[in-house]
Amino acid sequence: MTPAQIGAGRNPLRDPRDRRMPRIAGPCGLVIFGVTGDLSRRKLMPAVYDLANRGLLPPGFGLTGFARRDWGREDFERVVHDAVRENARTPFRERVWRELSEGIRFVQGELADPTAFERLAATVSELDVERGTGGNHAFYLSVPPAHFPLVCDQLARSGLSRADAGAWRRVVIEKPFGHDLASAQELNRAVSAVFPPESVFRIDHYLGKETVQNLLALRFANEMFEPIWNSGHVDHVQITMAEDGGIGSRAGYYDGIGAARDVVQNHLLQLLALTAMEEPVSFSADALRTEKEKVLSAVRLPEDLAAHTARGQYASGWQGGQHVLGYQEEAGVPRGSATETYAALRLEVDTRRWDGVPFYLRTGKRLGRRVTEIALVLKRPPHRPFFEEHDHRELGQNALVIRVQPDQGVTLRFGAKVPETGMEVRDVTMDFGYGHAFTQTSPEAYERLILDVLLGDPPLFPRQREVELSWEILDPVTKAWADHGSPNPYRPGTWGPSSATEMLARDDRVWRAP
Ligand code: BG6
Repeated sequence: MTPAQIGAGRNPLRDPRDRRMPRIAGPCGLVIFGVTGDLSRRKLMPAVYDLANRGLLPPGFGLTGFARRDWGREDFERVVHDAVRENARTPFRERVWRELSEGIRFVQGELADPTAFERLAATVSELDVERGTGGNHAFYLSVPPAHFPLVCDQLARSGLSRADAGAWRRVVIEKPFGHDLASAQELNRAVSAVFPPESVFRIDHYLGKETVQNLLALRFANEMFEPIWNSGHVDHVQITMAEDGGIGSRAGYYDGIGAARDVVQNHLLQLLALTAMEEPVSFSADALRTEKEKVLSAVRLPEDLAAHTARGQYASGWQGGQHVLGYQEEAGVPRGSATETYAALRLEVDTRRWDGVPFYLRTGKRLGRRVTEIALVLKRPPHRPFFEEHDHRELGQNALVIRVQPDQGVTLRFGAKVPETGMEVRDVTMDFGYGHAFTQTSPEAYERLILDVLLGDPPLFPRQREVELSWEILDPVTKAWADHGSPNPYRPGTWGPSSATEMLARDDRVWRAP
């Protein structure tokens, strides 16, 4: 480094290859509404600590909790401490915790109470003075979407939504963004009446996962995949997000919502968009979102929804040596509930690239194991000159599988000759595993996304248009389901109802065993 560069404000100790350095948040604070909730304890507060531990938060960072509980600052500090101890990804370090805890504040109040928001405004101003948060604050609405309009309104009335010159105010909202197109639009009207579009950060935590971002690297930083990434070579695509757990204590949220709205509308359609989209002209937020929106607007539902969708509900039974409750026996679920805990559907993408290639999406709770993957299953070779029928009976179709979680990586499946045979060919795999290729573990999705909010970096946050397009795709399905029949029961630990197997059998295909 030359003296001139040092003079220009460059840090002489910084390795120019270190891409992390520019991604340290400036002075700011994060206010979380709904701090007592599950998401906040399991994901948000631990992610804030992990960011602090990785040196990515400014020294004067402020973390404010807002909740109805009659807590003092110390009570909240203990809650954050326990959440961090239990759920943080990185090791607990007393020094980091001490520094973080000095910026912790708590405001007790009801969402409907204007004086509580005045207290919040005073707390935020205090943080500006005491911690140097510079008037920059993000408001994380970890509350049911029905409360978004009220909270936004209170933030506007108390002046909290407005930033002084040179500072920023942002709002973070989590899915579900409504339960259909109309309600999503209504929610958006309430939020955008208070915050301009560039200050609204919609979280779909799947986009924060390293393996999901790697999908873009895999496709566009390499030469070898793109030539086959189309209907000339791909027979069909399967996108699976399976969980082995049930709904736990979330009946209040889940019942009436179900698997399609909870997961397909957001996570799975985002994975589809990233898999099917054209190469963006740059990785700017606008370019990326535009390509995703093009794909979503080209998605076509099958005409016969009954034949090409499937839904199920887990029954009671044995899973992993334990007896587990059926969905309808879970605490808080009304008997006779028709909420689906498994959803599968076939979609097509009406573009030149994907003409005639079905995309099969499925998700469910209490399935065989927890796994998320995107599998591109390739066509069979057109001509197999030297094979006798019995020689390739063990040979499946080539496949490229992006393993999103838990075993993060990519698998390529192809045929290889079995030694000492004439020309017997069998499926073999080639694997890339994050755990083997890289020494560091992947950050949690929420670490990446919270940091992006604090930096004001929007590419990983869907725009309202994407949300609306996704509802446009899903609304006819949920309406057809509401009008006809009910979910088919399936045994826990299996791969869903038999209607899902039949759905693929109609197309002469089978679901992969992930
Ligand atoms: C959430 C859903 O968005 O994703 C939950 O609301 C689901 O129902 C969760 O359990 C799964 O997330 P992950 O990151 O564990 O796959």
